[in-house]
Amino acid sequence: MDRIKITGGQKLNGEIPISGAKNAALPLLIASLLTPDRLTLKNVPNLADVNLLVRILRNHGVDFAIDGKRTDPNPHIGETFHLTARDIVDTTAPYEMVSRMRASFWVLGPLLARMGEAKVSLPGGCAIGTRPVDMHLQGLKALGADLQIDAGYVLAKAPKGGLRGGRIQFNKVSVGATHQVLLAAALARGETVIENAAREPEVGDVADCLVKMGAKIEGIGTSTLRIEGRDRLEGAVHTVLPDRIETGTFAFAVAATGGDVTLSGTRRDLLSNALEALAETGTQVHDVDGGIRIVRNGGGVAPVTIETQPFPGFPTDLQAQLMALMTRASGTSVIRETIFENRFMHVQELARLGADIQLHGDTATIKGVKALRGAPVMATDLRASVSLVIAGLMAEGDTTINRVYHLDRGFEQLEAKLTRCGAVIERISG
Ligand code: UD1
Repeated sequence: MDRIKITGGQKLNGEIPISGAKNAALPLLIASLLTPDRLTLKNVPNLADVNLLVRILRNHGVDFAIDGKRTDPNPHIGETFHLTARDIVDTTAPYEMVSRMRASFWVLGPLLARMGEAKVSLPGGCAIGTRPVDMHLQGLKALGADLQIDAGYVLAKAPKGGLRGGRIQFNKVSVGATHQVLLAAALARGETVIENAAREPEVGDVADCLVKMGAKIEGIGTSTLRIEGRDRLEGAVHTVLPDRIETGTFAFAVAATGGDVTLSGTRRDLLSNALEALAETGTQVHDVDGGIRIVRNGGGVAPVTIETQPFPGFPTDLQAQLMALMTRASGTSVIRETIFENRFMHVQELARLGADIQLHGDTATIKGVKALRGAPVMATDLRASVSLVIAGLMAEGDTTINRVYHLDRGFEQLEAKLTRCGAVIERISG
């Protein structure tokens, strides 16, 4: 199993190109199931999760082609995918695949809308909490679906004539449930209204693509989405928006090590809240042409108090990275996690490097320490693992991160991007 070794203490200087957003690329790939025509997606990141989803889609009958060469040594490739679901040959998504990546459960709505039936495995447990799918099922039922749960699978059937528009009032914000209903509603008869929809930019990106495919959608970017479905959607060409979580991760890394890095191909408005928190720590955030410049030279890191919230609040996917930064703050920080229970597995690992963190329920209190010391640590989930990379970059001596396959799920060319800015980081195979 691969490990990553980091020798800490180097400042980061230079430019890091930001990849397309994993969390937009996944539902956009799934949107290909909605049309027999070709969907072309540009700026798709080369990630383990993306590759796994492509395998799942091919299983359903999606014809897949890719432009350019996968072996390009350029740290940021931004690939172009062509997906054509002319004939759906299989409406079952098996446990072996869905259990490996939760987002693959989102094929349920599109398969049901297009084919009138689907059998999709329940995603099962997850390292960062129970993560149920009740809201997904509530949404599809409102579109007329008959849903039975049998032997770990959702057996879904559309009414005669197909799914029809409906009104859904979610009682909390779910990114996944919003994607699920949005995708299905685009191919349902009549109007669907989703109240308390997720406003995450990735939802907006999917909605923009569905509009190009022929759906009529109002309220994009707001918490009320009105979707006028079509009998048939068409092909389209769409560019995946920049990854705000990758942007924030590198921004926090620069704040952690000190230095001056331009994050290119990204946008401040995708993560205003997180960048405001970063500015509060004493790090400079500048808008530059085509990106954001992050500077911290000298001076300590001031502590902050934040709680995670749905967009436009502070993203849960950046909570672990902020915590890594706060381990060296000049005072006490407080971070409250309101989206997922159990999303604190990085705390024990950060403690191995010398961090002083107390956990009480959903709240972590972090007392800044003078220095972290390198140590072997274990990656537990995607965002937790990258927080260990940030901590390793700050620590004195060597840090070895085990189980780095978590990182490969969501960060494209992580070591190459950091190495080009002066980090001492290498992958050890086997
Ligand atoms: C997505 C993101 C993930 C991010 C999360 C929150 C992708 C591929 N993943 O995950 O990176 O951390 O949004 O921003 O885009 N919930 C229910 N019932 C449901 C669905 C969700 O109770 O049917 C709860 C969850 O347990 C959680 C909260 O709602 O407490 C938010 O989850 P959700 O927004 O659905 O997360 P995901 O879509 O799984």
